[in-house]
Amino acid sequence: MTSASEIERQLPQPLAERTRSVRFVDGVATLVVDAAGLSRADAAGLQDEVQRIVGGIAGVSEVRVAVMADRVARRIVAIGSGKGGVGKSTLTANLAVALARMGRKVGVVDADIYGPSQPMLLDASNQKVRAEGEKLIPVESEFGVRLLSMGQLVAPGKAIAWRGPMTGNALGQLMDAHWGDAELLLVDLPPGTGDVQLTMLQKFKPAGAVVVSTPQDLALIDATRAIDLFRQAHVPVIGLVENMAGYACPHCGEISDPFGQGGAEAAARALGEAFLGRVPLAMEIRIASDTGQPPAAGDGPQAQAFAAIAAGLAAWLDANER
Ligand SMILES: Nc1ncnc2c1ncn2[C@@H]1O[C@H](COP(=O)(O)OP(=O)(O)OP(=O)(O)O)[C@@H](O)[C@H]1O
Ligand SMILES: [Mg+2]
Repeated sequence: MTSASEIERQLPQPLAERTRSVRFVDGVATLVVDAAGLSRADAAGLQDEVQRIVGGIAGVSEVRVAVMADRVARRIVAIGSGKGGVGKSTLTANLAVALARMGRKVGVVDADIYGPSQPMLLDASNQKVRAEGEKLIPVESEFGVRLLSMGQLVAPGKAIAWRGPMTGNALGQLMDAHWGDAELLLVDLPPGTGDVQLTMLQKFKPAGAVVVSTPQDLALIDATRAIDLFRQAHVPVIGLVENMAGYACPHCGEISDPFGQGGAEAAARALGEAFLGRVPLAMEIRIASDTGQPPAAGDGPQAQAFAAIAAGLAAWLDANER
């Protein structure tokens, strides 16, 4: 006699692992399968396979399959700064790589409508974005990080005058893409603290934000502006990062401080926010970034700097689980 447990026994191992419940009443088999981490196509394939296999069992006249949707609790972390050129994009790419090395499943969203740079930083410029149904499929970098960029939505070299709603829709497509099992999306914000950034934050509600600053005296003012933006949008500030701190001379190794040192840390303290760490001003970082080789993927001192900041970010996320 066919029974629920008999049906369960007949499922091949990979299907059995994804099956959460089996009921069998009057010839009707009802199964609940878990499609967590699968693309929409693979989830549909899973459903078809269950239909076929269970439908082939003697005594089963009808098969009903309920597929549990992706249950990944995905969180968004925004990387912002009070002004441009301080290293948001460099930090975003390298934090993502460092987090991936720690075993986190990370995606990068390049929300910079003015100067998208993630495809270059993560060496994915020549990869085309595909869509499946209505949704975009992020491109894979060789560093274990998936990414999507506003830059991929427009033809290369073509300037676009983004308007409010257009920006929101385009960014919505990036955020709502097939991120699969990615548990964390790092969003590289456009520079500045204006309406564009505020609207983005209000719409996509990041779990937290990282503020990047250089160590100049002006850092306090810039960092304050960025923190104000996040507070206004009710996004918790995870912490500040000081970039371009201390210049390591490529010839003699001597460390000098062209922009001063400790400005961002002092700013963090004054503002009652955490300090996540500093990244030195280093020629290697600039060169590696331009050639799509994020230093965080290597083994040098820069990789350690990024790994330490990534560890702080991961610890915050773990401590602030919903
Ligand atoms: N720690 C560093 N050492 C050396 N060069 C760096 C460092 N951080 C960033 N840079 C370089 O500084 C330039 C600006 O960095 P990046 O593009 O990451 O800044 P950004 O804040 O994203 O800029 P934008 O506001 O234009 O988006 C790049 O050429 C980058 O390679
Ligand atoms: Mg940038």
